[in-house]
Amino acid sequence: MAVYLITGIAGFIGSSLARELLHRGEQVRGVDNFSTGKRENLAQVLEQIDFREADLLDLDAMKRACAGVDYVLHQAAIPSVPKSVLDPIGSNMANVDGTLNLLVAARDAKVKRVIYAASSSVYGDTPTLPKHERMIPDPISPYAVAKLASERYMISFYRCYGLETAALRYFNIFGPRQDPSSPYSGVLAKFITQMLAGQQPTIFGDGEQSRDFTYVDNAVEANLLACKAPARQVAGKVFNVATGRRVTLNEAFKFLQQLTSYSGSPVYEAERGGDIKHSLADIFSAEQHLGYKPKVNFEDGLRQTVAWYRSQGKAPCAY
Ligand code: UD1
Repeated sequence: MAVYLITGIAGFIGSSLARELLHRGEQVRGVDNFSTGKRENLAQVLEQIDFREADLLDLDAMKRACAGVDYVLHQAAIPSVPKSVLDPIGSNMANVDGTLNLLVAARDAKVKRVIYAASSSVYGDTPTLPKHERMIPDPISPYAVAKLASERYMISFYRCYGLETAALRYFNIFGPRQDPSSPYSGVLAKFITQMLAGQQPTIFGDGEQSRDFTYVDNAVEANLLACKAPARQVAGKVFNVATGRRVTLNEAFKFLQQLTSYSGSPVYEAERGGDIKHSLADIFSAEQHLGYKPKVNFEDGLRQTVAWYRSQGKAPCAY
């Protein structure tokens, strides 16, 4: 049994990781400051985990959290492109300063490996598709810059201190427990809850922008594989975590109409600042080095997600 520290454990990806690790009989410790995470995401597992309410910017708390830990799964972030455009300093503090603190604490505690929730947003609007890890990043939003900086800190800590790190570039992760209630929420969580409530969703732009929407179980699997893969294959490296297929917002909306029985149309508004147009991953490297294969495709993931929101009677966002 290994000890895992999950940062951002009350978030939707963090809490999904906790569930799977507990299912596998592992020991789970978690930190969250509830800036975006939700207590309700931990309700069913709180008794089985060592939870500490703490901020990544509190170095002493991070040192205590890392003591005796084997693997760190660093999910904590303010995960929003538009929020970073509005508040670049806040985004940098949480997403970069916080990561650096955690790395120092992990290095000093001699943890075996740190896996980082990086982002496909670092590729920016490069016309080349699919995006592969050898491409030169070209981040647009402050959020994407922060994610890239943290990725480079991961690599630097491997090179300078020998701390084994790997960065997983998530491509639009979706699934149960993703918060639908803020204007910065992921598009599918918003659309599903709006459409289930009979409300008209808003599409920013013409709806022809595309994303490699990835069901959360695939991201969970990638993290656990990245912990166990041989160091020479993962340490100091970056991997796309996605499905290798892209879906436009218009297509996603149509499929959701079937799943939610929403018969209205979307409203189209101006494109959002800092957005990228198309996103599609080459996942060969993760397949080759981590043994990763997406287990759940877009349609099945969306079915499971809609079923979960329906069972929860989740209120849609008010924006
Ligand atoms: C998302 C993640 C980000 C992650 C990145 C890459 C969220 C909130 N953001 O960014 O953390 O690093 O993927 O994995 O999960 N849109 C609408 N209507 C809405 C909301 C959004 O049309 O009500 C559009 C946006 O303008 C954008 C697309 O949907 O074109 C996707 O937006 P969003 O879900 O916020 O994700 P990303 O910005 O791609």
